[in-house]
Amino acid sequence: MNPLNHVAIIMDGNGRWGLKYKNSRNAGHKAGLNTVEKIIKETIKNKIKFLTLYAFSTENWKRPKKEINYLFSLLENFLISRIDELHKQNIKLKIIGVKNFSSKLNNLLNKSEKKTSKNRKLQINLALNYGSKFELINAFKSLKKSNKIINEKNLSKYLQTKNIPDPDLLIRTGNTQRLSNFLLWQLAYAEIHFDKKLWPEFSEKDYNKIIKKFKIIKRNFGKI
Ligand code: FPP
Repeated sequence: MNPLNHVAIIMDGNGRWGLKYKNSRNAGHKAGLNTVEKIIKETIKNKIKFLTLYAFSTENWKRPKKEINYLFSLLENFLISRIDELHKQNIKLKIIGVKNFSSKLNNLLNKSEKKTSKNRKLQINLALNYGSKFELINAFKSLKKSNKIINEKNLSKYLQTKNIPDPDLLIRTGNTQRLSNFLLWQLAYAEIHFDKKLWPEFSEKDYNKIIKKFKIIKRNFGKI
């Protein structure tokens, strides 16, 4: 059985779900947050140590201001109301991406990371204002400055995912088959599952089915 240490998820389809069922994209984001909570619980049940969630990409700034503001207010309220509970559950929160939000949100993110930094049960990496190409360019620049040899090990020290093992499994919901500038380096050997369901309708049952399939798949890593 394959060990499953790290699951990464592109939570796509909130907007479409919201428009279809509630006539509002934002209602889709709200429903998407419920799925986030369910999937965190299920990740713990499955004893998976790392969960990386793509919540906001560098390209998402192109969305209408109203939607962006709504997403950040959801995140703010989530942190304010849930961080103590996450901490009690021994969950560590780490942000990957550039924290250039309002000072209120930046402070909240920093405080949440600091509070949970020693927790060990599950590490949630929340990708916010994250773009993989930007991350890679910065990592190469820093590596060059350091005068260290350019190799995989040294480069990975300058990525935002430093000290985080690469994802074993990537799930993308929303019936779209692309990577959207997400963890391009780190996903080199990941198994990829594209799911037809929109994120708000993605269930624990769907998640467990994918995990079960992953565990018995033959992973070659270039060998035969
Ligand atoms: C992609 O769906 C989803 C996002 C850009 C935001 C993800 C946010 C959440 C799941 C809720 C908030 C999460 C936290 C952690 C507070 P889309 O809007 O691109 O959907 P579409 O393809 O149907 O338009």
